[in-house]
Amino acid sequence: MKKFSVVIAGGGSTFTPGIVLMLLENQHRFPLREIKFYDNDGARQEVIAEACRVLLREQAPDIAFSYGTDPKAAFSGVDFVMAHIRVGKYPMRELDEKIPLRHGVVGQETCGPGGIAYGMRSIGGVLALVDYMEQYSPDAWMLNYSNPAAIVAEATRRLRPHARILNICDMPIGIEGQMAQIAGLPSRKEMRVRYYGLNHFGWWTRIEDLAGNDLMPAIKAHVAKHGYVPKQAGHAEASWNDTFAKAKDVWALDPDTLPNTYLKYYLYPDYVVAHSNPEHTRANEVMEHREKHVFSACRAIVAAGNAAAGELEIDEHASYIVDLATAIAFNTQERMLLIVPNRGAIPNFDPEAMVEIPCLVGSSGPEPLQVGNIPLFQQGMMGQQVAVEKLVVEAWIERSYQKLWQAITLSKTVPSASVAKAILDDLIAANKEYWPPLQ
Ligand code: NAD
Ligand code: G6P
Ligand code: MN
Repeated sequence: MKKFSVVIAGGGSTFTPGIVLMLLENQHRFPLREIKFYDNDGARQEVIAEACRVLLREQAPDIAFSYGTDPKAAFSGVDFVMAHIRVGKYPMRELDEKIPLRHGVVGQETCGPGGIAYGMRSIGGVLALVDYMEQYSPDAWMLNYSNPAAIVAEATRRLRPHARILNICDMPIGIEGQMAQIAGLPSRKEMRVRYYGLNHFGWWTRIEDLAGNDLMPAIKAHVAKHGYVPKQAGHAEASWNDTFAKAKDVWALDPDTLPNTYLKYYLYPDYVVAHSNPEHTRANEVMEHREKHVFSACRAIVAAGNAAAGELEIDEHASYIVDLATAIAFNTQERMLLIVPNRGAIPNFDPEAMVEIPCLVGSSGPEPLQVGNIPLFQQGMMGQQVAVEKLVVEAWIERSYQKLWQAITLSKTVPSASVAKAILDDLIAANKEYWPPLQ
């Protein structure tokens, strides 16, 4: 069987060790000859990379391993680029969350003004990765899960329309895992779904088991009482549990479908703000927990020279990345949700919008499945949100203050143009190092 070379861009990510462990567990179906890490913060990456070197030496000494900050070395001779960069890292995520909250508006990584600010930082970073790939490994594919995926996907559609980039999100996969538990199935892979929307903004219209039995009634009956919190609530963190529980109220708005949890930010922004602590947001939680834990485990492994010295957890649910890579590599025609241009899959929606819908994936890329016409409620919400995402990308391209102000104003999370302007002015000051200068 052919063996592949991958570069992980954002090698210093908190998710990198879990993904490396997941890749190792999947060697039977996605064999690797080489793993490389690339990051623009060499010191941060080094900690993660040296620990992964120990893991690889113990578990897979045949896989060549290297890491660095030089794009040419990193992107040459690879088959896949797995991209999970966070431009501005956690300190900027913290500001994305806290600045809107100061103005009484939702402060979130990918939704509302925070997501817009993050988008303005990510576009340039992700385009640079696409360009390195095209320059040094023109036949490679980029599997991108860098956020905010909706804005990044729109930017690549506009600015790199022929690039071999696939944008994907793990939220539907995570929610489907909860649904499978609710339905009493061992895995989400025992379900076949129909789903449509935008990234972090969508609805399931059909969920069946592999025999074709409709699972929606049973799942809805559970969601009506408990949201997506399964009977035996797992080890999800408190803030994620709140999000899963709130799905109950999100669902109530359209009982015909089942919602993505991210819709709470658009449908219940007042509730979200009332339940946020403007001094301590999700970025703080992640810095205090995941980031601290992963980096101290890596340091312990490097110091001891063996992997048993630190607890690094395999990221099981990231195996969707291997599903995607094998779909391309071995033409599996796996059915997956991807963020792709609509082009008529939803006939009564903007053909140019980037939508998240089921696709069959093979060697030549994704083949989107037909969704059909959607109801006015979803059409209205998605139309407004797509306009936000397009305006952000136009603002980035044209360096336009006006368009970015319009984008923030149009976000359903923001009450008025004056609040939008006040938030924008604070975000500009905070993002000086990262945004193009606006005029
Ligand atoms: P992190 O800050 O721990 O890691 C990101 C890394 O990217 C850092 O090491 C940073 O130095 C590096 N980086 C930043 N800008 C870069 C650039 N221009 N070029 C190269 N490297 C750069 O963040 P994390 O929490 O591990 O998340 C990583 C990314 O994955 C985020 O964008 C996050 O939103 C995303 N993510 C997406 C999904 C999804 O569903 N699509 C799921 C989980 C995480
Ligand atoms: C889900 C989403 C990602 C997002 C992540 C945030 O997985 O699909 O897009 O980045 O949640 O998780 P965190 O633990 O960093 O708040
Ligand atoms: Mn996501």
